[in-house]
Amino acid sequence: MEQLLIDPTADCTADIDVSVIPDLPADTFVAPLTKPAHLAEDWLEPEQRTYSSAEHHIWDDLFAQQMELLPGRACSAYMDGLKRLDLGSGGVPDMAAMSEELRSMTGWEVVPVPMLIPDHVFFYHLANRRFPAGNFIRTRENFDYIQEPDVFHDVLGHVPMLTDPVFADYMAAYGRAGWKALHHNRLKALSALYWYTVEFGLIREEGELRSYGAGIMAGPAELVFATGARSPNRIHLDVDRVMRTDYVISDLQPTYFVIDSFQELYDMTVARNFDDLYAGLAPGFTYANQAVLDSDTVYHVGTQEYALRGGSGSGAAPI
Ligand SMILES: [Fe+2]
Repeated sequence: MEQLLIDPTADCTADIDVSVIPDLPADTFVAPLTKPAHLAEDWLEPEQRTYSSAEHHIWDDLFAQQMELLPGRACSAYMDGLKRLDLGSGGVPDMAAMSEELRSMTGWEVVPVPMLIPDHVFFYHLANRRFPAGNFIRTRENFDYIQEPDVFHDVLGHVPMLTDPVFADYMAAYGRAGWKALHHNRLKALSALYWYTVEFGLIREEGELRSYGAGIMAGPAELVFATGARSPNRIHLDVDRVMRTDYVISDLQPTYFVIDSFQELYDMTVARNFDDLYAGLAPGFTYANQAVLDSDTVYHVGTQEYALRGGSGSGAAPI
């Protein structure tokens, strides 16, 4: 059993100051990211970069491709947000203009960062209702998939959902929950929750399963796979279970978790109190990402044939 850094029963909610980047406990494992020398500790770029016309065209082509697939597969909150923010008006959207619009709706803004940023800095921005977005766009060689989150993933995938008031509050609370995860030494569990909700979440709507997850929205293969393929499991979200579930970052998901509403998501997490969620969680993951448990509320038991045939790189069809 891993030694906890500090007493997990201690109240760690009272002294959270979201105006300051949280400390990273010395033995916390984080991805080895090197901050570019010109940036301060908040990792924010001074301004959005200027994109070439070839890069603006990549945005336009990516946008057009996704617009063929999103209606009927993306949830209504996402589609409404997409429309209100006018992300398809031509070229990479201007973050300042987008932020002005967002601020008036839910108090959020979008800020440029050079690359993936460390967890504790990410929490700091989310808690202050700033969504950090990659200050670069993929190349044509990586048109359909890029592991590093670029401006297309971050803006097209995430930002429309920030126009929904309840989801916007969930995202800010998720940032605050980061302080608590650092305190309890449970970053992996909190990351799993993010993965299975913010990145790859599905919601029941009009009798169908639709996406609200950014990782689904920004990838043509995943959008079709998540909402319609027979391979993946689709299981109702149970946060205690999800925070114990492993996840893959470089392939289509073997399991998607489903909510009934954003209020349900909020109530299952924020209203319940994230501290309680961490209490009792083991350090590592308990469940494999393909597992279906007796206690699960299952909408679809996946055949897993895509993963069983080798997944990405094997030539297996994403069915
Ligand atoms: Fe993302």
